[in-house]
Amino acid sequence: MFLRSPCANFAHIIKKEGMKKIAIINGPNLNLLGVREPGVYGSQSMDDYFGELKTLFSHRAKLTYFQSNSEGALIDELHRVGFEVDGIVLNAGAYTHTSIAIADAIRAIKAPVVEVHISNVHNREDFRSKSMLSAACCGVILGFGLDSYRLAVEALLNKAI
Ligand code: DQA
Repeated sequence: MFLRSPCANFAHIIKKEGMKKIAIINGPNLNLLGVREPGVYGSQSMDDYFGELKTLFSHRAKLTYFQSNSEGALIDELHRVGFEVDGIVLNAGAYTHTSIAIADAIRAIKAPVVEVHISNVHNREDFRSKSMLSAACCGVILGFGLDSYRLAVEALLNKAI
């Protein structure tokens, strides 16, 4: 059986000149970063961190941010940005472990997707070790706290150079 590589779409990113468009998409409960289980997810809010990221990449990329607690809204957003941005950084939260629908959406769009997790899901509960999304994504970055998002943006941009 031939399976198209999830990274095949890096060709799409390589061709374009200038600033790359990268969409960061966060799933359920990630609106509570900074408040939610700070021992696991840290004490910085995503608003704060996203501001830092935008500054850090201001010369290389145009970053956008979307968060929803709803599976359907995340799929709609993947469809919306998936044909216009150069890459997507996706932390689907707990939907990572359950959502065939999000995996199908990743496969349906053009932009390469990097799966991200703030925590090291492999040293937590067993159910977090299973991702429905990883096989549909170009790569996975996890366990580096909020810095996982920066590493994922770097990975997408490095593929473009
Ligand atoms: C998470 C890990 C998931 O297991 C969890 O449900 C989350 C956050 C992370 O970023 O570490 O909501 O994706």
